[in-house]
Amino acid sequence: MALAFLLNGTPVRVEGEPPTRTLLDWLRTSGLTGTKEGCNEGDCGACTVMVTDADGSRALNACILFLPQLHGKAVRTVEGISGPGGEMHPVQAAMVQHHGSQCGFCTPGFVVSMAVAHLNGDRAHDDALAGNLCRCTGYAPIIRAAEAVEGSPVPAWMQADREAVRVLAAGEAGVFRPSGSDELAAWYLANPDAVLVAGATDVGLWVTKQLRDLKPVAFLNGVRDLQAIEVQGGQLHVGACVTIASLREAVADRLPSFAEMLRRYASAQVRNAATIGGNIANGSPIGDGPPVLIALGATLHLRRGDEIRSMALEDFFLEYRKQDRRPGEFVAGVSFPEKADALRCYKISKRFDQDISAVCGCFNVTVEGGKVTSARIAFGGMAGVPKRASLCEAALVGKAWTEATVEAAAEAMAGDFTPMTDMRASAGYRMLTAQNLMRRYFHDLNGTAVSVLEVAP
Ligand SMILES: Cc1cc2nc3c(=O)[nH]c(=O)nc-3n(C[C@H](O)[C@H](O)[C@H](O)COP(=O)(O)OP(=O)(O)OC[C@H]3O[C@@H](n4cnc5c(N)ncnc54)[C@H](O)[C@@H]3O)c2cc1C
Ligand code: FES
Ligand code: FES
Repeated sequence: MALAFLLNGTPVRVEGEPPTRTLLDWLRTSGLTGTKEGCNEGDCGACTVMVTDADGSRALNACILFLPQLHGKAVRTVEGISGPGGEMHPVQAAMVQHHGSQCGFCTPGFVVSMAVAHLNGDRAHDDALAGNLCRCTGYAPIIRAAEAVEGSPVPAWMQADREAVRVLAAGEAGVFRPSGSDELAAWYLANPDAVLVAGATDVGLWVTKQLRDLKPVAFLNGVRDLQAIEVQGGQLHVGACVTIASLREAVADRLPSFAEMLRRYASAQVRNAATIGGNIANGSPIGDGPPVLIALGATLHLRRGDEIRSMALEDFFLEYRKQDRRPGEFVAGVSFPEKADALRCYKISKRFDQDISAVCGCFNVTVEGGKVTSARIAFGGMAGVPKRASLCEAALVGKAWTEATVEAAAEAMAGDFTPMTDMRASAGYRMLTAQNLMRRYFHDLNGTAVSVLEVAP
């Protein structure tokens, strides 16, 4: 494998590394030990680096980033956040001034996330730093440091990568890295046992935690036509390789409850890498994408060779970790209505930010003239697959939209699911929570403040 990228402003060429070598491993064995290893699974942000391509600069977790994903891009580690003459970046100076570091283990990751937010003019500091965990300093001094530099100019060296990647001569990566879906379709048909790597936020852990040897591997991050988002005939068509961060932007004004749920999907670093296609294809019963898409009545598009087929997304999930996907077939995209005023998504997790759902309930009920005319209600975390609450829906449709109807629908939900007990929640907690979400939805649609962020003392 030969690949080329910029590292702290200097072109590097990497040869002879396995395609699943992580950037973090490679950096640390190359002597760049400022980037830390905490969890090695995308949770703590100690390994945060800045990656720049033609679309801009993002914070990513180096521990679940494979080297071929960097081909033709620019990487800046904490060593490259300070200036070429050793001058401190404004966020570094502010961290000193505001006492933002104690043991210092998390500090390089924080500094990189803060520098990326500073570069992008992003002032939503809590969101930008939700993926960086600090055990000893506490977050207040760190947030104060981030606020203190909001207006200060971006150092020139931080802007150099954007220009450089435009002219970076991208050599041949030596691993399969298609630039279009036609190329991918032909190759995958001939190599149906291959592992497709999109954002690697799941696959990365197969390597770092399960120590699996993956071969052959195709990297999808160069497939431009699967990164498109189009609006046509009232539908949003979202390519499989659209990241969760881009999807969140696309639905921000159209489907605000969906966007708010995505704000709590992992962290900025993970959202910048993870794709909606990967979220659907991995078939997890606790993925946050499928329940909302099913509640919206989404259509999934699959491609195998030249054959494209479409199906209701809910039909794709057959049983636990088993999907209706044939060898050599990949997820090409998903389409769903661009507006749904009654859509509400409720993510219930132990930690508010950066946590996987215990239960995720998504509701999309139409009420006309006081009567329910349609209902689509889907849950994650309640069964072996993301699943509709069919009995609950049936108890609503045709009935008056009243508290009594909603109560009956919540009771009917007991027949829809037999949830499991695991480390996230007990079966009893899951069922009661799901039923309570039905009640919450009623009050939410009637204008009562239901979000913990809205409820005033
Ligand atoms: C720290 C952390 C926090 C997380 N938090 C959340 C969360 O809050 N909510 C949530 O839902 N998920 C969460 N996840 C899980 C993960 O981010 C998602 O499942 C993600 O969407 C996977 O997308 P990806 O592009 O990274 O997929 P990858 O890891 O690249 O691939 C995942 C699977 O899908 C397959 N695949 C990828 N693209 C395609 C395609 N186009 N066609 C067919 N197969 C394909 C791969 O072969 C693999 O089997 C988290 C993960 C981490 C590490
Ligand atoms: S080491 Fe924890 S996110 Fe990478
Ligand atoms: S300063 Fe010690 S973990 Fe953050």
